[in-house]
Amino acid sequence: MTAAKTNKKPLPKKGRLIAFEGIDGSGKSTQARLLYKQLQSEGIPVWLTAEPTSNQIGTLIRQGFSGAISFDHRTIAGLFVADRLDHILNPEFGMKAKVEQGYTVICDRYYLSSFAYQGSHMPMEWVMQANSMAVELLKPDLTIFIDVTPELAMRRIQETRANTELYETEKNLKKVRTNYRKAISLMQPSERIVSLNGKEGVESLHKKIMMLLKTV
Ligand code: TYD
Repeated sequence: MTAAKTNKKPLPKKGRLIAFEGIDGSGKSTQARLLYKQLQSEGIPVWLTAEPTSNQIGTLIRQGFSGAISFDHRTIAGLFVADRLDHILNPEFGMKAKVEQGYTVICDRYYLSSFAYQGSHMPMEWVMQANSMAVELLKPDLTIFIDVTPELAMRRIQETRANTELYETEKNLKKVRTNYRKAISLMQPSERIVSLNGKEGVESLHKKIMMLLKTV
């Protein structure tokens, strides 16, 4: 069967990595999914993934968040580093291999999440240092930061979820948002990070993201 008949374009020589970031309740996962569906409908080879992953280390992290296992925040920070390295380097589902194969990889949260979240419990410099290998191995071609106020985020979380996780209090989200801004200003000289207002409607944000994709 030819590529045209299946509406599947051949894999480009090199793919790209698009990361979505934002505090809980920002709407980033909705936008990541919409982008995935749109690119897929255009026949572009696309791979949607997220951190924490659903693999062994990511599962441990989620057990820590739900309270099933008790971890110190520093241990969680270390687990995120390990989960991320596996997510980059794994020969089967690793993002690096996928990008090299020509996929557009969409990652719902990446290292900026660690800088912002773990950086609210320990020095951000430590978290950045611990993640430096990931930064060196695979930088996003574009990071989309969906910015919302902690008040709006909390309202959305309370409306849509049965139970909230460890980090989801307004005070924490405020700290995390401040850290995101600090991390973005530290990383922006060497990475492309675009901040979008998450108060906007889902469709209008999606259109802006599609425009941005044309530039990567
Ligand atoms: P989230 O994207 O909210 O997943 P879900 O929608 O499935 O709950 O991520 C779960 C939590 O993980 C979120 O509160 C942020 C936190 N997190 C960190 O603290 N550090 C990290 O490096 C990452 C990737 C996530």
